[in-house]
Amino acid sequence: MTANDTNRFDSQDSFAVTIWCESNMDEEILQLLRKHPSTFLSGEELSRRLKVSRTAVWKKISHLRSLGYEIEALTRSGYRLIQSPDLLIPSEVKPSLETDWMGKTVHYFNRLDSTNAKAYELAMRGAGEGEVVIAESQAKGRGRLGRNWFSPPYLNLYLSVILRPDIPPHQAPLITLMAAVATAEAIEKCSGLRPSIKWPNDILLKGRKAAGLLNEIRSETDRVHFVILGIGVNLNVDERMFPKEIRVIATSLKEEMGRKVSRKVFLASLLKELEKWYALFLKEGGAVILKSWRAWAQIRGRHVKMTSFGETIEGIAVDVDSEGALIIETGRGERKKVVAGDVQYTDQAPISKYQTPNKSQYPKS
Ligand code: BTN
Repeated sequence: MTANDTNRFDSQDSFAVTIWCESNMDEEILQLLRKHPSTFLSGEELSRRLKVSRTAVWKKISHLRSLGYEIEALTRSGYRLIQSPDLLIPSEVKPSLETDWMGKTVHYFNRLDSTNAKAYELAMRGAGEGEVVIAESQAKGRGRLGRNWFSPPYLNLYLSVILRPDIPPHQAPLITLMAAVATAEAIEKCSGLRPSIKWPNDILLKGRKAAGLLNEIRSETDRVHFVILGIGVNLNVDERMFPKEIRVIATSLKEEMGRKVSRKVFLASLLKELEKWYALFLKEGGAVILKSWRAWAQIRGRHVKMTSFGETIEGIAVDVDSEGALIIETGRGERKKVVAGDVQYTDQAPISKYQTPNKSQYPKS
């Protein structure tokens, strides 16, 4: 969680972006074609409905084809949609969404510097709770500790969700834990594999990082204005595409499952889990989040080593406190509270007296 004070947001995305609005013509053509999956819609009919020339219709059809839409065209019959690509444009995503309010407004971009930066900007301009920003790729995807997040186009998920919880700032880290739990659950549901959470909020599959979270908060002393939940999930990227320096520590759902994942299905599942866990957090408080987080993380009792703000700390991870800090018991019986850093496990298994029961996930939907 990065705390931001006023005026933090001064960088603007420098790329020309493609935003899909519900009203644009591509969207309207797609809606019409989808309504008639087994019949052809004539160019004349489309031009009449869209109030544009037949040449304009043809240009739009060509554009949609260039995006990966398979559209059959027959002289004298017209156009028929055969297959849609796995794009995350609102019209592709919305039919799969099962949420009540989260993701009802999708700001979609072909390319952004960072979805977090764009979501922050939108939130500053008044964007509401549950609005999401999605990009097919990021030029400057932000990772933890000032790192970059590898963000190749059309393969993974880069998502930022705007939340406006009525909580004091010290509770905001629980939102990060909440989002990690929701992401782990969505991964398990979509892949059938059991991920684990590595403190603070890396999601691992078979010990390699498949997803990461970077949440940013804007607040004043006693009030949170908004939280930007930034989530990156490696879905369909192949191992060989990862930059060399992360190739051995990163993975994707496709690598682990041996088959591609539908990005829109995954997105729908993730938003559903986020909505569920966020509602639970607001209703019941942090205890339920911590309980589930501990079950996914299984960090209690592990021998860990880490560097935090230049200090190397080694010991047994005892717990995570209500603010998301890691408590480490060092050799001298002293307990240290760590708020940032990368954990390295230096054992094979946890010390049993600290262990967390594995079956405490809650609630099931
Ligand atoms: C980490 O280092 O583990 C956190 C990575 C977070 C990446 C996501 S991708 C979507 C959102 N936008 C960003 O710029 N970063 C987050």
